[in-house]
Amino acid sequence: MSRAIPQPRPSAADPILDVRDVTLRFGGLTSLDGVSLRHGRGSVLAVIGPNGAGKTSLFNCLTGAYRPQQGSARFWPTAPTAPTAPASPATQAGASALVGVGERGVELVGRSPHRVTRLGIARTFQNIRLFPEMSAVENVQVGVEVRARAGALRGLVPTRAVRREEREILERSHLLLDFVGLRHRVRWPAGSLAYGEQRRLEIARALGTSPALLLLDEPAAGATASERRDLVALIRAIVDQGVSVLLIEHDIRLVAAVARSIVVLNFGRVIATGSPEQIRSDPAVIEAYLGDPDDRADDRADDRADDRADDRADDRADDRAAGQAGDGTDGSEGRR
Ligand SMILES: Nc1ncnc2c1ncn2[C@@H]1O[C@H](COP(=O)(O)OP(=O)(O)O)[C@@H](O)[C@H]1O
Ligand SMILES: [Mg+2]
Repeated sequence: MSRAIPQPRPSAADPILDVRDVTLRFGGLTSLDGVSLRHGRGSVLAVIGPNGAGKTSLFNCLTGAYRPQQGSARFWPTAPTAPTAPASPATQAGASALVGVGERGVELVGRSPHRVTRLGIARTFQNIRLFPEMSAVENVQVGVEVRARAGALRGLVPTRAVRREEREILERSHLLLDFVGLRHRVRWPAGSLAYGEQRRLEIARALGTSPALLLLDEPAAGATASERRDLVALIRAIVDQGVSVLLIEHDIRLVAAVARSIVVLNFGRVIATGSPEQIRSDPAVIEAYLGDPDDRADDRADDRADDRADDRADDRADDRAAGQAGDGTDGSEGRR
């Protein structure tokens, strides 16, 4: 990517993520087919594509939920030039997880979700996953506690240090709720919040783990126009805090408002990479996606249903042909 104006460091030249040739199969279905992408530190990279393109599968491969059959995903949790992420009570605890991160970064493939979180990658889910009975602030605490030093023994041994850490966790959780605009919802059960608020709460919880890279899976799904504007502002504020963002989003206008570059997936393959302007005018992208994503997704589902119906009809025809071929013999001759 060439840039006319020199940027202050960190620049996109510093990688935070380098995905190479990732292939993920489920039985006969190839959900990711040799996917490669590179994400520059301190920016937003958007991943777009029709339903079923493999976007969520990619997130699952990066976060240890799925293990791809092939490929690598290298991650650089820190760079010498990176600004610090929002202050954490226990950044030191996270730092110990970074020992051994050199020029080549760390390999994410094969790591457990827990290890990936500790390395500095957090995510939100396409289908919101909060603890609905717990309050907003308690949900965020769950994220912040990932980095806590006292860990599971905290409740058993309430030393002064443990109490101080608990206070810090609570303070940071409040700050994060403030940051995402949910100060007025601190004590509300997560399940009672409006949909858009739940999405922001999930972002606050993810930020609680002090990530270097935040993965957002369709954060604007179901959002109103004003919630979308708020989300654009929130994503920019997150990047300003030194957190890089990988964003799955359907709304190309929202994507163009925050993302420096875009990767387009279709049927598990990268079909285009470029700036929002380049992507908008790419014929392959227009064909695959931008025309009318909903119609196209529906068309594809219809096509698949038609294909299956055709296959069944073919099978029946084969069966009939086999039956006829076998007439007068043992009935199995014509079968393949
Ligand atoms: N756990 C799974 N088992 C079987 N197939 C899966 C699984 N996860 C995803 N897939 C398939 O992988 C393809 C890509 O899905 P997904 O990554 O959810 O797409 P997107 O997020 O772009 O809509 C789909 O065909 C989906 O059915
Ligand atoms: Mg998805």
